[in-house]
Amino acid sequence: MASSAAAARRDGRDSDSDLDLTEYLATDPLNPNAEATPKRAPSGGEYASRESKFVLRDTSSRLRSLGIRSKTCCWAVVALAAALWAILASGGFFAYQKYTQAPPDGLSPPWYPSPKGGTARAWADSYAKAASMVETMTLAEKVNVTTGTGWMMGPAVGTTGPAEKVGFPQLVLQDGPLGLRFADNATAFPAGITTGATWNADLMFARGKAHAQEARAKGIHVLLGPCVGPLGRMPAGGRNWEGFGADPYLQGIAGGETVKGIQSQGVMATIKHFVANEQEHFRQGGEWGLANAMSSNVGDRAMHELYAWPFYDAVRAGVASVMCSYNMVNNSYACGNSKLLNGILKDEMGFQGFVMSDWLAQRSGVASALAGLDVSMPGDGLGWADGKSLWGPEMSRAVLNGSMPLDRLNDMATRVVASWYQLGQDSPDFPNDGPNFSSWTDEENGLMAPGSSTDQEVVQVNHFVNVQGDHKDVARQVAVEGVVMLKNDGILPLSKDSPLNIGLFGEDAGPGKGPNYCKDRGCNQGTLGSGWGSGAVEFPYLVSPVEGITAIAGEGVSVADYSNSTGSLSKQPRMLDQDVCMVFANADSGEGFLAWGSVGGDRNDLFLQKGGDDLIVQVAEQCKGDTVVVIHSVGPVVMERWIEHPRIKAVLYANLPGQESGHALADVVFGEVNPSGHLPYTIGKSLEDYGPGGQVLYLPNGIAPQQDFDEGIFIDYRYFQRAGIEPRFPFGFGLSYTTFELSNMVVSEKKARTPLPSARPNPAVEPPSYSTESPSTQDAAFPADIRRLDKYVYPYLDKEVLEDIDYIEAGYQYPDGYDVAQPLSGAGGDEGGNPDLWDTYVAVSVDVKNTGDRKGKAVPQLYLSYPETESHAHVKFPIKSLRGFEKVELKPGEKKEVAFQVTRRDLSYWDVESQNWRMVDEGKFGFTVGFDVEDDGVRGEW
Ligand code: BGC
Repeated sequence: MASSAAAARRDGRDSDSDLDLTEYLATDPLNPNAEATPKRAPSGGEYASRESKFVLRDTSSRLRSLGIRSKTCCWAVVALAAALWAILASGGFFAYQKYTQAPPDGLSPPWYPSPKGGTARAWADSYAKAASMVETMTLAEKVNVTTGTGWMMGPAVGTTGPAEKVGFPQLVLQDGPLGLRFADNATAFPAGITTGATWNADLMFARGKAHAQEARAKGIHVLLGPCVGPLGRMPAGGRNWEGFGADPYLQGIAGGETVKGIQSQGVMATIKHFVANEQEHFRQGGEWGLANAMSSNVGDRAMHELYAWPFYDAVRAGVASVMCSYNMVNNSYACGNSKLLNGILKDEMGFQGFVMSDWLAQRSGVASALAGLDVSMPGDGLGWADGKSLWGPEMSRAVLNGSMPLDRLNDMATRVVASWYQLGQDSPDFPNDGPNFSSWTDEENGLMAPGSSTDQEVVQVNHFVNVQGDHKDVARQVAVEGVVMLKNDGILPLSKDSPLNIGLFGEDAGPGKGPNYCKDRGCNQGTLGSGWGSGAVEFPYLVSPVEGITAIAGEGVSVADYSNSTGSLSKQPRMLDQDVCMVFANADSGEGFLAWGSVGGDRNDLFLQKGGDDLIVQVAEQCKGDTVVVIHSVGPVVMERWIEHPRIKAVLYANLPGQESGHALADVVFGEVNPSGHLPYTIGKSLEDYGPGGQVLYLPNGIAPQQDFDEGIFIDYRYFQRAGIEPRFPFGFGLSYTTFELSNMVVSEKKARTPLPSARPNPAVEPPSYSTESPSTQDAAFPADIRRLDKYVYPYLDKEVLEDIDYIEAGYQYPDGYDVAQPLSGAGGDEGGNPDLWDTYVAVSVDVKNTGDRKGKAVPQLYLSYPETESHAHVKFPIKSLRGFEKVELKPGEKKEVAFQVTRRDLSYWDVESQNWRMVDEGKFGFTVGFDVEDDGVRGEW
């Protein structure tokens, strides 16, 4: 093994063989002063203390990430880089001109008019109730329930207006996928990526359920999760950790189960972000020094088979809300993209709930409503907290002057109210009177609308209700089953009882400055429990690995904590005089509104951060005994420098474990629980191995940066297999302390093969219809008795404005294609699409046997290979696609049969010609069940 210094030189990085632990344990070598970098100083006042959205991106961090480091940087280089940025950003770079010539309406085809909700049998009662309520609403009330009141204009991150006269409350919306953001006394669950790594559908449901119990008890109607987009096209993508892994099937099962879990508690789930928001750089106009967001240019087939796929599962599960994303898709903003919202989501998938914008992702007024957006969040207009809504009063005006079809507004309001009924939130048991905590202050008392400068009464906003219950158990179980054992040369599990000195090395093993040290967890210090951004929460506590291992270690075991020691390893050999050295390292990333040092949301590479690789090598080389490596990470890391080191005997990949981190790890290390996690993505040998499609676009390449998803459906393992690249660890990989064996595959046909699904069924019910009479202008007049708050978004207009509104006799200039009714999709027909897509066509069963001497959980995975036929020679199929998985517990010697139901959708590809899911109707489908995507386990065909 080469020395760490030599290895570092080979990798082109600085190294010092006489390693100073202070550097490793306390700083980011790339940016020694790194801590969370808010993009703009928070606005003043006590209520800004936890406010993070007003901040602007710090472009100096981008310069650092480009390798322009403060030590070496000279002003000329900075000026040059800034000039280059300006040229690129302004689109002056000729090479990128093709992108500036896109038609003004974008390259996404028009799909109008917006399909009405209320066509699915499962929602019929809720729509009937909603219709009677919406029928009696005034114009202002309809606008109110579809527009947020503005940023920080309520205690939660989002609040709609009420329709008091008819008894409809303000809906309260709160992040996010990992727990309840900005809340006290609530659980910090493991992240989505850890949940994906469990491959345990029951745990996915249980985590969603516990999350929703907490939300409900805190007065939340709508949870802003789960997250299935980003899907993970780029392994360095900043928010991949909020979702469940780089495969649509895994994301679909996990997203669907989480939705069911959340909604089982009467809380509306939000599946997000629709769609193709795969990187943080340029995700949003304004945030990255550019006026426009980037465009993800995605082909129809990849859209269906990868990016939209998990949304199908969520809609099928009855999800109440879909959040459209910041980015453009095919050069049309996702929240104003009629093909996506009207076409794919509402017609094809039959979505019955409401589409809400990501926070400020709405970029137009009437046009976005026509394109299928139903709720504007947080209600402000094009800028944060500007109070100039694109809807609100403007929506009232647009209806009154005839530019906004009343019919559409009725559908928007009905979708919101029907969702409320559908979840049973009209019940007297549901807390409809607002949240009992504030996102904006930790104090007991505060303002209800701290975003407004108008004087307000100080009232009790935090009631400090403890909603954790026994959810730590679910959190721990997910964290335990989310640990993936990548290597074990017989060293694990450690014995609790025999004499053993264990040394724990690396800042990632210890508590650091506490889990909530940086706002929205926007820095990497101490042990890593979650990534950063709106998907992160306030930890009630975080059990560090040092605490967890110390707590569980038995009598004979002594644990030495070197997680925050200083000095050089080689100068303090006693530190390494251990029977076992456990060395911890990590990699962090997060949402693009915050940067940690040079990491501006997306990671800059796939290496461990804070010198982790060097530390691991040095510990392995100097430890008296063997070394165990533990990684906490937002996604794959490159581990080529040390993975084959002969003294590294075991590697545990613990993902992002949440508050129960140390307990969960200790359970696995000492064998209290047999590890059963499997990788929810591929670990490659380099970032380049993920192919051109796997690379984040770090520099703008035009006025609106363009990302062409040219690789189509070939991402992650689909790319590795097609390109013949050997991964370090394949997708689905994970070891156990026991061994399992597969045998006896049985493939049985359940339904005969036909190329296309059955004809689209007619709607089970008719959507509600309402009077088309124009509302009276009085309906939208500011009530005389209302006390107006500055910048608060109301639906009302002043009397003088109302008097000035002229009806547009000539008709409104609607977007191109608005008057061309689209043919209804053959793939549609019910919630989740054509019901035939969900019918089982083939059942595959296998026997799984525990052949070792310990109880353990196996994860048999079913992979499909499409038939290779002449008729389909023009269609490129992946070598394998995940189409089923189960988690099954087995005692030593025990054997169980595991069955997979393979549906029509699972067997189909998206045929862009017929615009439908098509099954290849000749040749043989291949089925493989194995313990990872490279494992040829047992095989069969149909
Ligand atoms: C994020 C969403 C989040 C919203 C509200 C946005 O910046 O992209 O995921 O739900 O903020 O906090």
